[in-house]
Amino acid sequence: MSKKKKVLFECQHCGLTSPKWMGKCTNCGTWDSLVELNEHEQEIVKMTASSSGSAKARAITEIQETEVERFSSDDTELDLVLGGGIVPGSLTLIGGSPGVGKSTLLLKIGSNIAKQGKNTLYVTGEESEGQIKLRANRLQANEEKLFLLSEIRLEQVMLELSQRKYECIIIDSIQTLYSEAITSAPGSVTQVRQITFDLMRIAKERKIAIFIIGHITKEGSIAGPRVLEHMVDTVLYFEGDSSQELRILRGFKNRFGPTSEIGVFEMKAEGLISAKDISSRFFSKDNSQPGSALTVIMEGSRPIVLEVQALVSESYMPNPKRQATGFENNRLNMLLALLERKLEIPLNQYDVFINITGGIKVTETSADLAILAAIISSFRNRAISKETVFIGEVSLVGNVREVFQLDTRLKEIALHKFSKALIPKKPSDNFGIKCYEVNEVTKLIDWM
Ligand SMILES: Nc1ncnc2c1ncn2[C@@H]1O[C@H](COP(=O)(O)OP(=O)(O)O)[C@@H](O)[C@H]1O
Ligand SMILES: [Mg+2]
Repeated sequence: MSKKKKVLFECQHCGLTSPKWMGKCTNCGTWDSLVELNEHEQEIVKMTASSSGSAKARAITEIQETEVERFSSDDTELDLVLGGGIVPGSLTLIGGSPGVGKSTLLLKIGSNIAKQGKNTLYVTGEESEGQIKLRANRLQANEEKLFLLSEIRLEQVMLELSQRKYECIIIDSIQTLYSEAITSAPGSVTQVRQITFDLMRIAKERKIAIFIIGHITKEGSIAGPRVLEHMVDTVLYFEGDSSQELRILRGFKNRFGPTSEIGVFEMKAEGLISAKDISSRFFSKDNSQPGSALTVIMEGSRPIVLEVQALVSESYMPNPKRQATGFENNRLNMLLALLERKLEIPLNQYDVFINITGGIKVTETSADLAILAAIISSFRNRAISKETVFIGEVSLVGNVREVFQLDTRLKEIALHKFSKALIPKKPSDNFGIKCYEVNEVTKLIDWM
């Protein structure tokens, strides 16, 4: 009797596997997304699911640590987000919305690396060689060791890798590359997994640093498969879009370093270049308007002074609008509820909009106090002096909590010559700034 052939279905949206076909994926809820995998594809699923290698476990005390080797990308901001430079043999995913500058940045990085004498391959499946050449002229990226391959078949890319020794590869983009061994469409889970798996293997075997460009959807996640994020070593995303002057690259995952730092770039005719003097790029000291307040957030090791803006206007809807750009909506709702309750401001009859200038996303709670101040200022139509900076996290019961690295933040404020700060607790050193202690939100109202 012959052994029964094993069947396996896989959701092309989320990667769920099932021995039975289903009309609707039970994991992500997508309709008609399950396809049957052939034997080769099943093999890949198995290989990527279980960790490879047959090494026997050893006592941790016997194992010697390995130093992570790195080389510079000759771009200070990228080096910073990567945790100190490029790691040979690492796979890095760079995601961002169309036009944000992924191709521009990586072509320049490729040329920087080629300039160091390392063979670098730029694989483009989106643009023609001629288009890339035009961009290279603009970016001054013409280097002898930078090679261009206009190709969408993975097998051809692999063939190229067997012809010449490369130290860095840039794939632009993962959504356009496909493997002929697999029947499903480019960008599907099966394709992306196979391609990433093959790239990962080649990166580790030959110690090649590989950058993969990926498009992201409106919701901000990588278009198509999440499996990609799990498989690669490092994930970096561009925040904001092409309309912003500054483009921010944030680390989400890094097997070789911290993810706390951001990279700040600006789009210029000569490319996407590391922004200079970033701490003063997110606010202006010009005339103050109602609804604007300043704060200092920490992005990794760097303090950044930010302007937060609020617009409070009477609502004609049964459910007033609450919308935040660059700030979490849930947190805004919490702060608004607190204002209503504690300070008896009837915000339930008002629309409230929040905007963080410069396209940065605030992930820290230390901006709470400034958000409250901006809302109150807009509500009362009274401007806050641009000499004042607000720092503090607000709790559900209306206390203002201390924030970490207050000293670093105050030092930064002093550097930019602000004269007043509203903070949760008197600091040990005020760096010449007049500090007001605001440990409860009611005190904020008193002050204002
Ligand atoms: N001649 C130019 N001068 C300055 N900026 C340009 C020029 N041409 C294109 N750009 C900028 O480059 C951006 C496109 O970048 P690109 O790297 O192709 O983005 P992505 O690869 O992320 O889709 C455009 O949004 C535009 O701002
Ligand atoms: Mg591009």
